Amino acid sequence: MLLKKYVKTRRKVKILLLVTIVALIVITCIILLGSSGPNGSTIERLLDERFIARAYQPQSEQLQQPKEQAVALLQPHRENGVIVPEKYDEHKIKARIMQNRLQQVKQQQRDNEAEQSRTTVDALTTAVHIFYTAPVPWYKSKKPPLPQPEHPNEVALPLTTPKPVKILNTAFYPALGLYKPSAKLLGQHFENIRNCGIGVIILSFVRPSDPALLHQILELAPQHNLSVTFELSVAGNRTLDFVRQQLQEIAAYVDLPGFYHVYSQSRAALLPVLYVSNAYKLSESLGRQLCRPTAQELAEQLNVPKNVGGLRRVLDALFIGHIRLKSHADVLRRLCFDGFYSKLPSNGAVFASTWKNWSYLKSYALSYKMLFVPTVGPGFAERNKFPRHGDIQRHRSNGRYYGVAWRTAILNHVGFINIASYNNWPDGSQIEEVVPRAGFLDYNPGSRTKYLDLTAHWVGNFLKTRQEAASAAAGAVLNCYELLNNTIC
Ligand SMILES: *[C@@H]1O[C@H](CO)[C@@H](O)[C@H](O)[C@H]1NC(C)=O
Ligand SMILES: *[C@@H]1O[C@H](CO)[C@@H](O)[C@H](O)[C@H]1NC(C)=O
Ligand SMILES: *[C@@H]1O[C@H](CO)[C@@H](O)[C@H](O)[C@H]1NC(C)=O
Ligand SMILES: *[C@@H]1O[C@H](CO)[C@@H](O)[C@H](O)[C@H]1NC(C)=O
Repeated sequence: MLLKKYVKTRRKVKILLLVTIVALIVITCIILLGSSGPNGSTIERLLDERFIARAYQPQSEQLQQPKEQAVALLQPHRENGVIVPEKYDEHKIKARIMQNRLQQVKQQQRDNEAEQSRTTVDALTTAVHIFYTAPVPWYKSKKPPLPQPEHPNEVALPLTTPKPVKILNTAFYPALGLYKPSAKLLGQHFENIRNCGIGVIILSFVRPSDPALLHQILELAPQHNLSVTFELSVAGNRTLDFVRQQLQEIAAYVDLPGFYHVYSQSRAALLPVLYVSNAYKLSESLGRQLCRPTAQELAEQLNVPKNVGGLRRVLDALFIGHIRLKSHADVLRRLCFDGFYSKLPSNGAVFASTWKNWSYLKSYALSYKMLFVPTVGPGFAERNKFPRHGDIQRHRSNGRYYGVAWRTAILNHVGFINIASYNNWPDGSQIEEVVPRAGFLDYNPGSRTKYLDLTAHWVGNFLKTRQEAASAAAGAVLNCYELLNNTIC
């Protein structure tokens, strides 16, 4: 009896759960539809309307024209509200078919022209950096689901421990397939990045590193007028030894001609730039290893503590650390980092990723002579969602999400902007070309190169805004933001 009752209520619970889930899906759909409707107008107003009009008009024309034709063809002729059957007129029908074919050919020509007239930027700027992944981890392993028990109340006991299965780990499908880095592919990617006006790629430096691939990229990038910088990570190990080891390895690359350097006026030196992922986790464990001796300590030379600047003696660079919370900016300042970046392109997920907090971070950086590098991205979509840091998925809204991120970054007059990402497919934050494919997301109704075009547009916009600021200040002393020759204060 008791068992029966239990089963019944469990079923009820299941049904209730199902109903809740369905209701939630419906509500989400309504909200999503609503936000792309008139409610999104506040976001749209922020965008460069002229560009939007140019970028989206041909697309909507393409979509609407054939529909109107179809409607015209389907609408029967009426007289006084009564449908009059069309007389069979061979000549008329042939003419109509010809006309339709002509229109189709014209449409195709227009499509091809649109494909060819890609937006590109001729000028290159080292002020925009982009995260680049090589090789892309297309698959991840997952424990297989337990076999279904034969009776609902039985618990299946697996006879053998199931082997993990490899599952595809991307929500979008790449136009170039599930590629591996080759000279040809890297060349193609670098050309695309260059055509967006981006001058620097950020390569993830993971241990054990693949020196052959890193050398190949560092050799190839300058041929496309690109420089390379690394992003090292302290996510798995925050010890000083680990950081030092990574810097020792990276030191072997920074003197190669492809490595990115920036001229620092205050230090009167050309310095490599390094990003440090998860830097906020270092807390105080680094001590003063990244600090330079103060003027007072230098004056009393003997008193400089031995650990001061230890890491900078291994490799002196502009260290830009990853932050998430408001307090992390203070942490990195105390650790003597040269700047910070937000890394996660999900607006609202954490303090640093929230667009409206960027003005605070900018002024914080300014008052402590640090660099704030906002990270912009077109969206975020993990295929196999797992709740890492709460919900960080972000819908692309046909490019509007990316547009607001760029606008905010540009309006904050920052010296550098980085983009997540060129090809981080597992995060679904890529701007690379996609192909429509069943079971995968794509850029519809935009073209497959949509996010490359948008990137070129916004990089151009960023350059123009800074050039205008610099020429407005002509004659007067330029402030840090107005220096365009790869120089910082
Ligand atoms: C690329 O580099 C070459 C030679 O280094 C230079 O002549 C050319 O102007 C550069 N192109 C751009 C767009 O900067
Ligand atoms: C961290 O890295 C150091 C240096 O490589 C190593 O000695 C230490 O065992 C590592 N610690 C952990 C927890 O992996
Ligand atoms: C920063 O972003 C958070 C959301 O992550 C928000 O709650 C907070 O009010 C923002 N702070 C400022 C100063 O805008
Ligand atoms: C960059 O421009 C500033 C201001 O015009 C100038 O002072 C500085 O020397 C230039 N730096 C380099 C590396 O050319």
